[in-house]
Amino acid sequence: MRLIGSLLIFSLVLSFVQGGSAQNCGSGAVCGERDTGHGTDGGELGKIISREMFEDLLPYRNDERCHARGFYTYDAFIEAAKAFPAFGNSGNETMRKREIAAFFAQTGHETTGGWPDAPGGEYAWGYCYIRQVSHGSDYCYPYCPCPLPGQYYGRGPIQLTWNCNYLRCGEALGVDLLNNPDLLATDPVLSFKSAIWFWMTAQPPKPSCHEVIIDEWKPSANDVNASRLPGYGLTTNIINGGIECGKGWNSFVANRIGFFTTFCGKFGIQPGDNLDCYNQGPYGPNLMAQSM
Ligand SMILES: *[C@@H]1O[C@H](CO)[C@@H](O)[C@H](O)[C@H]1NC(C)=O
Ligand SMILES: *[C@@H]1O[C@H](CO)[C@@H](O)[C@H](O)[C@H]1NC(C)=O
Repeated sequence: MRLIGSLLIFSLVLSFVQGGSAQNCGSGAVCGERDTGHGTDGGELGKIISREMFEDLLPYRNDERCHARGFYTYDAFIEAAKAFPAFGNSGNETMRKREIAAFFAQTGHETTGGWPDAPGGEYAWGYCYIRQVSHGSDYCYPYCPCPLPGQYYGRGPIQLTWNCNYLRCGEALGVDLLNNPDLLATDPVLSFKSAIWFWMTAQPPKPSCHEVIIDEWKPSANDVNASRLPGYGLTTNIINGGIECGKGWNSFVANRIGFFTTFCGKFGIQPGDNLDCYNQGPYGPNLMAQSM
């Protein structure tokens, strides 16, 4: 799904540009609206990612070419994160920044409208999309109820997909997402919560992205045998390993890494080891534990 979606998104954005309707946003010009305000008005988490840093990571999300224009705000992000106190709040400052950089890198990739010669660079276009562009399944796993076949396509920062994920996420957040999946595309706080929920929640045998990126997770003998070692690459495996991992180099994993190294640079931290999952075994066929 993700493969097709990315290609479509890519060609859609490209066609806007080639059609001559593109706004000229190059050379430092501000595109679209920006949040105003300064300093650390986001509480404890705001000390790790300020409003300015959020803008710096996602500068084109409100561009007129982006479907998500106006949807993803700093305030919605900070509000959503309050439901997950350990998020961006584990370990020393470097660890906290690494987790936030990794979260925005993965979700930036999931929602990107960027292309190689994009203004601001390929990795400046995260959070351009809310809903998955191309749908290729009924997204019904037989293990969970599926009252609205076809409706559990990707939505929000992590592009939460499949009925089982909507069920579990909804249960965790106290909202009936199974019968109201589009809430993740219309309520920005809930949308951010779905992404942070996926990030924070282990779905065995997978660990959570959170425990991996803060270096709390220790690989089992099976993990070591499958080259699943601690690092950003394992978060990719958790999110979409069935499609992207264990297949050698591919542009999707490379794009995820590009977002991460770019964002780590903005935070002034090192990205750590094991950035890719090119040679990692994916976690079996248990697709329902993937975000997409
Ligand atoms: C932060 O914590 C990590 C892991 O515990 C450690 O390796 C690193 O040296 C620490 N960094 C600082 C600046 O204290
Ligand atoms: C390691 O993985 C290989 C397949 O890649 C498998 O045949 C072997 O049994 C595994 N070993 C262990 C100890 O799990």
